[in-house]
Amino acid sequence: MTEGEGTDFKVQKDLLKEALMSDFSMSEIQQIWRQILTHFLSISPIEQISMGDHQFSLQESKIINGILKRLKNKEPFQHILGEIEFYGLELKSDPRALIPRPETEELVHWIVEETRTKPLNILDICSGSGCISLALSQAFQDAQVYGYELSRAAIDLSEENALALKLPVVFNCVDVLDIDEFTTSLKKQTKLGLLDIVVSNPPYIPCKEKEAIQELVLKHEPGMALFVPDEDPLLFYRSIAKGILPFLSTSGVLYFECHYLYLEDTRNLLLELGFTNVEKRKDLQGKWRMLKAQK
Ligand SMILES: C[S@@+](CC[C@H](N)C(=O)[O-])C[C@H]1O[C@@H](n2cnc3c(N)ncnc32)[C@H](O)[C@@H]1O
Repeated sequence: MTEGEGTDFKVQKDLLKEALMSDFSMSEIQQIWRQILTHFLSISPIEQISMGDHQFSLQESKIINGILKRLKNKEPFQHILGEIEFYGLELKSDPRALIPRPETEELVHWIVEETRTKPLNILDICSGSGCISLALSQAFQDAQVYGYELSRAAIDLSEENALALKLPVVFNCVDVLDIDEFTTSLKKQTKLGLLDIVVSNPPYIPCKEKEAIQELVLKHEPGMALFVPDEDPLLFYRSIAKGILPFLSTSGVLYFECHYLYLEDTRNLLLELGFTNVEKRKDLQGKWRMLKAQK
C-alpha cells in the first residue's frame, strides 16, 4: 500500500478496502471506515454523507495509514479505538482483558428481561473487563454488584471502567478453581444477604480448538480468558455451580454463557448438582449459547 499524501476521499477508502478485504467482511470494513472518520478525524456521521469530493490532508492520511498498518498487523480494531460499546455502555478495551462479545450482550439482555423483582445482590464470576457486572449495575441500580476475577490486569481495567462510568461495582481477585478461596470469598460477600443473580462467562474453549481461532484473538487477547484443558472443558462450570449453590437465595438464579458444543453437558451437570428449571437459549447466530438455572 502506498502512503497517501493528501489523498482523495474515494482513493483512500478504496485503499483501505483493498488492504482489509482478506481479513474483514465488507460491512466490517464499512464500519471501521466510519469509525476512523468519527473517532480519529472528528468527522461527524452527518458530515461523512457529503464527503465524496473531500481531499484528506497529509496529516489525516498519515493517521488513516497508521491505523491500517496496525490492522494489517492483526491488532483488534477495538484495541486501536481503545473502547467498545457494550449494552449501551462505553467501555475501555485493551489487551488486559477479553474484548466483550455480542453473545455476552445477549446473555445480559436475557437477565434484564427475565428479572421481575429487584435483585439486591449480584455476582459476576470471571468478570474480565467488567462488561457484565457493569451492565447489570446500570440496569439494576438498587443492587450491589460484585465481580470475581483472577487476572490482576483485568481487575485494574474493570475498576477503571467502573470509575469512568460511576458504577459502584466491587471487583475482587478470586481464583474460582480454588474451592477454599472461592468459598471464603462467597462467605464474606454474602454476610449481608444471599445472592439473587449469579452470572458467568468463564473460559470455555478447549485447547484443541486453538488452530481454528483467528490470529488476532490469539495474539492480542489473554489466553487465560479463553482456553480450558481438552480433557475437562466443564472445569469452570463445575467449580462455579458447586461453589455458589449454598450462597444463592431461595429465588436465586444462575446464568452461564457456554460453548455450543458443551451446552448439553453443562445442562446435565447443573441437573446432577440439584439445580432446577434449567433453560437453554440460542444466540443470534443460532447456536445454543446460554443457560439459566434455579436452586
Ligand atoms: C471468557 S472471559 C470473560 C470475561 C468477561 N466476563 C466477558 O464476558 O467478556 C473469562 C475470564 O475468566 C478469567 N479467569 C480465568 N481463570 C480464572 C480463575 N481461575 N478464577 C477467576 N477468573 C478466571 C479470565 O481472566 C477472564 O477474564
